[in-house]
Amino acid sequence: MNAYNIASLIRKKRDRESLSPDEIKYLIQRYSKDGMPDYQMSAFLMAAFLNGLDDREAAALTHEMLHSGKVMDLSEVPGIKVDKHSTGGVGDKTSLILAPIVASCGVPVPMISGRALGHTGGTLDKLESIPGFNVELDLERYVQVLKQQNLVLIGQTDEIAPADKRMYALRDVTATVESIPLIAGSIMSKKLAEGIDALVLDVKYGSGAFMKTREQALELAEKLVAIGEEFGKRTIAWLTSMEQPLGYKIGNWLEVEESIDCLNGGGPEDVNRVSHQLAGTMIYLGGKAESIDEGVEKSKAAVSDGTAMQKFRDIVEAQDGEVYYLDHPDAYPAAGLSFKVNAPAGGYITAMDAHTFGDAGVELGAGRKSKDDEIDPHAGIILERKIGDDVKEGETIARCCTNNEEATDRVRQMLQDAVTVGSSRPETPALITDMVTRDGATSWSSS
Ligand code: URA
Repeated sequence: MNAYNIASLIRKKRDRESLSPDEIKYLIQRYSKDGMPDYQMSAFLMAAFLNGLDDREAAALTHEMLHSGKVMDLSEVPGIKVDKHSTGGVGDKTSLILAPIVASCGVPVPMISGRALGHTGGTLDKLESIPGFNVELDLERYVQVLKQQNLVLIGQTDEIAPADKRMYALRDVTATVESIPLIAGSIMSKKLAEGIDALVLDVKYGSGAFMKTREQALELAEKLVAIGEEFGKRTIAWLTSMEQPLGYKIGNWLEVEESIDCLNGGGPEDVNRVSHQLAGTMIYLGGKAESIDEGVEKSKAAVSDGTAMQKFRDIVEAQDGEVYYLDHPDAYPAAGLSFKVNAPAGGYITAMDAHTFGDAGVELGAGRKSKDDEIDPHAGIILERKIGDDVKEGETIARCCTNNEEATDRVRQMLQDAVTVGSSRPETPALITDMVTRDGATSWSSS
């Protein structure tokens, strides 16, 4: 590797020039191994945020972030290993549902997930609401559980893509998160380090997502798929709407409870639809179905015949969680306090700002305001109405659960302001709108 002057590399990006793969390699290696200071990386990130990175630069960045740590070799585990990643949403519990479905259909799922980030929830915090559930397995046990269960659910360790861990923390405090090439490098470096063979992406857009518009989400999805395919992993992305929360429950245990309903054959239609579409795509990429549609049918069958729910029990047990609550969710201790949010006017619900619902969840204790905050597993929101439903003035639109009495008035006001009531019934927002593969994007309307 050649040696460069770091300030000159930052200047080059500042002046809208392209960096070579060797120059990107130098920057990331100096940052992750040789003490390049945070202020220089921050300046580079801001230049990249403002001036963008071309495809060659984004691929080089992903490659270097991926190789900043350990790249898992899962070749001793038979089968095509497939994972799913969501760009983040509110009420998005699909990982909890699809992971056991796909594993029970014979496709190994090595899943490394994240914690709650800003207004969005995190799979790890949801899993940890199951008493005893251990997401901090070392990499040896990660492989062992995967071999035994065809499934493993853990958090990012210090060994996996450490450059991303540090760069993400910097981006969070330097207003450089919402950059398509930086998000793509961050997501793909972590996912490629897991040892997967194929990947399904759920790229969310709308009020509750990082990407606000379908166009931005499409651009991100195309970039993610291009990087995955360039690294030799079959990658398919779906664009799904986050205009309103997914399902009726937001909050850690509440989302586990709703996932159990779905795995038992009930649960909300939108959660089931997204979960089966993503699971079906994973089953197809894992070689256990001839097409995505056949994968979706297999996914539904795994719920109907009870094998997916049994796999969920098995993985909870294998990772030290208390299975009792999966079969007796009513026995789970309730939050200390619950209160209702009522409709300010009568009519039809025309909008539900998902971002504010996520922020309200954080206020109630379901997320973190700073990185060391403790999560309250009992806290959250249960919706009683969604977009398109009618409501009379004063009727309940949501119930909140918390142990933080001080948040109640603030959250009630936030949620009343987050809901718009109009006089005519709106169209239900389309839920799954586009599919992106190596062959391009196809619009796929499912209302
Ligand atoms: N999720 C990630 O893992 N990285 C980002 O940059 C944004 C969302």
